[in-house]
Amino acid sequence: MKTLVILSHPKLEESIANKKIAEELQKKENVEVRDIFALYPDYKINVEAEQKALLTADTVIFQYPFWWYNMPAILKVWFDEVFCFNFAFGPEGDKLKGKNFLLSFTIGGPADAYTPLGYNHFRVEEFTKPMEQTAYLAQMNYLAPVYEHGMVYIPGVYNTKEAVEERALQQTTQIIEILDDLENENPEIKIKSFAKQWFEHFDVLADDGYFNNYIANGAKLQFAEGEFVGHEGFSEWYAGIKNTIKPNNEHRIESINVVANNGHYAVDLSVKLKAEKLSGEPLQLNVKENWKVEITRDGRIKIHEYIVNTVN
Ligand SMILES: Cc1cc2nc3c(=O)[nH]c(=O)nc-3n(C[C@H](O)[C@H](O)[C@H](O)COP(=O)(O)O)c2cc1C
Repeated sequence: MKTLVILSHPKLEESIANKKIAEELQKKENVEVRDIFALYPDYKINVEAEQKALLTADTVIFQYPFWWYNMPAILKVWFDEVFCFNFAFGPEGDKLKGKNFLLSFTIGGPADAYTPLGYNHFRVEEFTKPMEQTAYLAQMNYLAPVYEHGMVYIPGVYNTKEAVEERALQQTTQIIEILDDLENENPEIKIKSFAKQWFEHFDVLADDGYFNNYIANGAKLQFAEGEFVGHEGFSEWYAGIKNTIKPNNEHRIESINVVANNGHYAVDLSVKLKAEKLSGEPLQLNVKENWKVEITRDGRIKIHEYIVNTVN
């Protein structure tokens, strides 16, 4: 599952909270952080580049400091430009449909200020209503926002830097839990993300133990080299592959389709392989793969059938 973080902070060099959260998220696999103020300090947004980045994402996180009960202006300009007609709304404006939309912001004031009798009067979620509706119009999946209070550090007056950083880490943990839940709850996303990792392990010719973890006992395996069965069969076939090609090859998933079918998932893939044989000769193959996959009750992936057909 790919996550795009739209980091929106016009003074990141002075930031404690958002900087920390962005740094932590950046360390996670499949997360791209776009620092939009660094990209567009003149507020002239490259709409095409931003839309392209959005199209690759399953989840979009908007990360920003709460400024005047709202987002910093750079993010507002970004929305005004990027969420345009026939992209985010309008007759052909379904390009973001189904993507997850998560606001993650840091709030200076304490929680009790955001109550009817507090000095900010309104609940935090009342201030984010326009964004909630923006997500609905774009047919996106609006998730409850993530935020922490008391995120300002004023030396000698309010907070310590360490306490703010600690809360920033807590906020990051919350975000990561949400991302993990999204991945686990949605079988299609889970299987797609698994397939990506699976081929990344083939790219480096990882140990057969990694692959056998996911292969069911007695699984039917069919390759150009013949038919094999279960763990032993996989290891036998794989030993042959390791004797044929060098590591650091490339398996590119051109397309992947996951369909639920009688308690299993049928996964159809087109994959382009670029490798080099041990002899130095280049090898390029297009293959169609058909997997029969189970997600077990404890959330593990098991492959019951793995059929590979070479197309060229
Ligand atoms: C221009 C500006 C406006 C702010 N407005 C609010 C506000 O409306 N409510 C609030 O609780 N804090 C407000 N704050 C405090 C910020 O939310 C706080 O500084 C920020 O979350 C800290 O994150 P950072 O370390 O990444 O900059 C404001 C701060 C600035 C600089």
